[in-house]
Amino acid sequence: MKVTLMHEMQQRILQMLKTTAGGGYVSGEEIAARLGVSRTAIWKHIKALKDAGYNIVSHSRSGYQLKDSPDLLLPQEIAPLLATGIIGRKIIHFDEIASSNEEAKRLAREGADDGTVVVAEAQDAGKGRLSRGWYSPHSKGIWFSVILRPTFLPQEAPKCTLMSAVAIVRAAKHFNLDVGIKWPNDILSSDGKKLVGILTEMSAEMERINYVVIGTGINVNMSREDFPDDVKDIATSLSMIAGHTLSRVELFAEILAAMDDLYQDVEKNGFRNVLDEWRRYSVTLGQEVNVIGVRETFAGVAVDIDEDGALLIDTSEGRRKVLAGDVSIRPRTDKKE
Ligand code: BTN
Repeated sequence: MKVTLMHEMQQRILQMLKTTAGGGYVSGEEIAARLGVSRTAIWKHIKALKDAGYNIVSHSRSGYQLKDSPDLLLPQEIAPLLATGIIGRKIIHFDEIASSNEEAKRLAREGADDGTVVVAEAQDAGKGRLSRGWYSPHSKGIWFSVILRPTFLPQEAPKCTLMSAVAIVRAAKHFNLDVGIKWPNDILSSDGKKLVGILTEMSAEMERINYVVIGTGINVNMSREDFPDDVKDIATSLSMIAGHTLSRVELFAEILAAMDDLYQDVEKNGFRNVLDEWRRYSVTLGQEVNVIGVRETFAGVAVDIDEDGALLIDTSEGRRKVLAGDVSIRPRTDKKE
């Protein structure tokens, strides 16, 4: 497990290189003087930045120049794009981890603050719903978990999944990507393939939430070959639908900003607005669906979600409410005249 907690000195050096007029050179002497350390110390920090993927060129007389930053989800890359109130105030980055949800739960038990984000470039034991796994290859997606300590009641927590889904659709729309939400937690492309999965976990007493962890996996820059054979035909990525690679840093900042906005609204006004926005983005409502419930499977038309976030289905035997389970949308059969 490799944690990237960047030295404060390195963050300040990066800041200086990024703000140099015209992206020119800054001398080692100037950096050393401004930071109050030796030139040898600066040289060591520059080397560490290069090892982390920053393309910094060194010139014996002119000094250092930043040519390129890696598209890694490093806190120092995200933070300047983010003006969030709660979510993302602290971002903990891992190069590789077993599961960001497991790490977030561990940190939450140790007292991590509301809004702490755990993000990994790769997971080797990513968790999906219903004890499934979640394939999370290095630097191809955004695999992250948000720790929340909300004031609402434990029975409201499942709606955090809807909140996260709405945040991701908002961010996707910002990049002109056409996506929709399948109840309760999948984000699909217009041809019905899965782009995003959300796994919300909670620790609570009867009347009080200790913490909620919302884990979200987004297939960003994966090509068809990157997916394991068993999901190749049912999964896709944002770059596949966009037709080009996306900046994971910009996308992640946009998602965290949207989540922060929604979370603050939820804490003030409850989930009313989240539910309304969810309805607008839904690809489930109005469709004929098969519901694979905990005990049984049945068919009907998905008509709405109620104030609990439960799916309401009109069946031949009347209206039914589905709180948990999987839904498959039945393809419309074109009737011939
Ligand atoms: C699903 O089955 O659709 C939910 C998938 C959730 C995957 C994400 S990736 C980040 C976070 N960490 C995990 O181990 N799982 C979630």
